[in-house]
Amino acid sequence: MKKIKVKSHPNIALVKYWGKRSEEKNLPSVGSISITLDELSTITEVYINKISNDEFIINNKKANEREQQKISKFLDYFRARSSKKYYLKIKTTNNFPTAAGLASSASGYAALTYAANHIFDLNLSAKELTQYARLGSGSAARSIFGGYVELHKGELESGEDCFAEQILAPDQFPLKVIVAITDETPKKTSSRDGMKLSQQTSPFFQSFVETSEQDISFMKQAIKSRDFYMMSEIAQQSCIKMHSVMMTTKEPLFYWNSKTFSIIEFVLKFQKEKYPIFFTIDAGPQVKIVTLPGEEKNIIEKLTKLNVIQQHFVIGLGNGTEIIEE
Ligand code: PMV
Repeated sequence: MKKIKVKSHPNIALVKYWGKRSEEKNLPSVGSISITLDELSTITEVYINKISNDEFIINNKKANEREQQKISKFLDYFRARSSKKYYLKIKTTNNFPTAAGLASSASGYAALTYAANHIFDLNLSAKELTQYARLGSGSAARSIFGGYVELHKGELESGEDCFAEQILAPDQFPLKVIVAITDETPKKTSSRDGMKLSQQTSPFFQSFVETSEQDISFMKQAIKSRDFYMMSEIAQQSCIKMHSVMMTTKEPLFYWNSKTFSIIEFVLKFQKEKYPIFFTIDAGPQVKIVTLPGEEKNIIEKLTKLNVIQQHFVIGLGNGTEIIEE
């Protein structure tokens, strides 16, 4: 029986994406730049199903009707391209909290794209893999690669020029990321629903879009010249801009909690002392603290004393999606 096992890592954006230029094709309103994380991973096993239905098991539990439908719709893209019309059984496990702003959808869809490419014998190029992954979740396109990755917004209606590519490999500019977990309950508003609302109602959405091109260009310069301080400034600003859009959405989207804010203050204090540190936050209350290798121990020691985190992970930069068993 044909079977495959794939491993993928989540990524976190240094230049954020929020909003879509096409809902149907899942094309982002802005480009984005991310880093792929190492120790956090999604392992996805895929088999051809004997029944004419897709089955989706996530963290050893059958997925609910909505998730099941989403996955089936995603697999329809592969069935449409392939001569094989298989239905699949998918077992996926994350070694980190699902749906809490830690991009489990990114690693999940990247892993599933890789597996489906293999099962349906599609022989997709790396660029095409990122485009298929994007149909599942915008940020998933970036998890196809390791290290520093750019997702091009593109201009074409077809989406042909919207794809991800690697800027630098993980070992070309190593970083350490401390993921500070403040609350493990799944977020109330999904990114998909949240960004749609923001786009329609936030007075700041347009300026977020207009300024993002410059952020992308400066961030690429910072990465290529290994300039941590330049990277910090752009990444933090991009994160705060995205959250300003979220907070000024009707109804407001507050993904932060009071602990999130305490950690932000903690990082800003370090920054005043010219310490190599910055924060970034996605659609959830966890804070990702980024620093240079060797500095993480000192930060964690002080962070634990704040008494606001439930748990933390210390992570390096990881590789792209890969097949681990076939
Ligand atoms: O991948 P999506 O479509 O669920 O969107 C994720 C958006 C953020 O994580 C909030 C920002 C980003 O660029 O990853």
